Amino acid sequence: MSDEQPSPSPPISFQVVVAIMVKKYPTVSEDYRKAIEKAKRMLRGLIAEKNCAPIMLRIAWHSAGTFDVKTKTGGPFGTMKHASELAHGANSGLDIAVRLLQPIKDQFPIITYADFYQLAGVVAVEVTGGPEVPFHPGREDKPNPPPEGRLPDATKGCDHLRDVFTVQMGLSDKDIVALSGGHTLGRCHKERSGFEGPWTKNPLIFDNSYFTELLSGEKEGLLQLPTDKALLSDPAFRPLVEKYASDEDAFFADYAEAHLKLSELGFADENWISRIPGAIFLMPRTPYKYIATNSWTLIFTASSFQAKPLIGPILRVPKYIQSANVIHQDLKPSNLKANADCDLKFCDFVLACPIAENEFTTEYVVTSVVLRSYC
Ligand code: HEM
Repeated sequence: MSDEQPSPSPPISFQVVVAIMVKKYPTVSEDYRKAIEKAKRMLRGLIAEKNCAPIMLRIAWHSAGTFDVKTKTGGPFGTMKHASELAHGANSGLDIAVRLLQPIKDQFPIITYADFYQLAGVVAVEVTGGPEVPFHPGREDKPNPPPEGRLPDATKGCDHLRDVFTVQMGLSDKDIVALSGGHTLGRCHKERSGFEGPWTKNPLIFDNSYFTELLSGEKEGLLQLPTDKALLSDPAFRPLVEKYASDEDAFFADYAEAHLKLSELGFADENWISRIPGAIFLMPRTPYKYIATNSWTLIFTASSFQAKPLIGPILRVPKYIQSANVIHQDLKPSNLKANADCDLKFCDFVLACPIAENEFTTEYVVTSVVLRSYC
């Protein structure tokens, strides 16, 4: 038997890149900020007095839901005030919302219609007991209404929902189901849509009853549209319906995220602020040991399976930072430390700032963390 040790296998390079997507919101003046706060208070009063939360949510959604991600046209840019857009079949009845809102809007000429209609949607959810949806001002009013036909057709199924929400608007399956929960509020009116009746027993309360009713089947006096029922037959949608029916907190969290996305389609461009390249070198068939350098380069003498435990934490750290409402602002390899237990942490928060502590002055909000790995 030879004493010679087998020569180590050449390292396998495995690069991980974490990138963080942020939105940069326009800065608005102090006067604008104050006007928004005042208008918000008046909207709360209007909605309480007139019980008009459902139609306020509907006008906000129909304004934003026309966004086309490919042409960057349509979206929440105040065009619903135009008679031509109100005349679209899908918008039947929304002239009532425009009329109800106008007296408040007249008191705040500084606020754009674009912001105002979206603010009304956010307030409608809040005052009926729903989640707090963040609101960032600064949308501009655009001159041209979108073409007719971009909003969903209630008589169709899941493919159509994905065509509208995913292909056209750029939203996800989760957004589709969470946003459908907006039907916890309000009702259908025969003279507007051809359908009649509410989805839930209390259409002025924002809760998860849309999902519990959907799962419990059709009932006298309540309505389910074909697009609502379609959620039950799709293998990706149905588990979400079940989740939201059994866990209202989960629904509120996903709804708030989806409503925020909807209300900001085409608003505040998304940019990468940070890419963190790193490399993990894997050397199979040699004893396990690694050296953590002061950069994000970890030298492994282990199998790729042993390195695996590190990949999850690497990806999760930016998410944890984000979930604590903090933006690190100086993410780079030398700020990532690892110990012998494969614990990883980002250090040096000197430049870190809070997300949305003050909604109006914070300009950056992390919207996603993306991993790419190359073997
Ligand atoms: C998934 C596709 C959707 C379809 C096909 C759809 C269809 C409809 C229809 C036909 C009505 C009845 C309008 C009337 O007769 O007054 C309605 C009402 C309503 N929709 Fe949707 N909708 C969808 C998504 C959404 C979303 C995403 C939201 C909000 C997040 C929403 C919020 C509402 C509200 C609050 C009402 C009640 C309005 C009122 O009571 O005046 N809908 N929807």
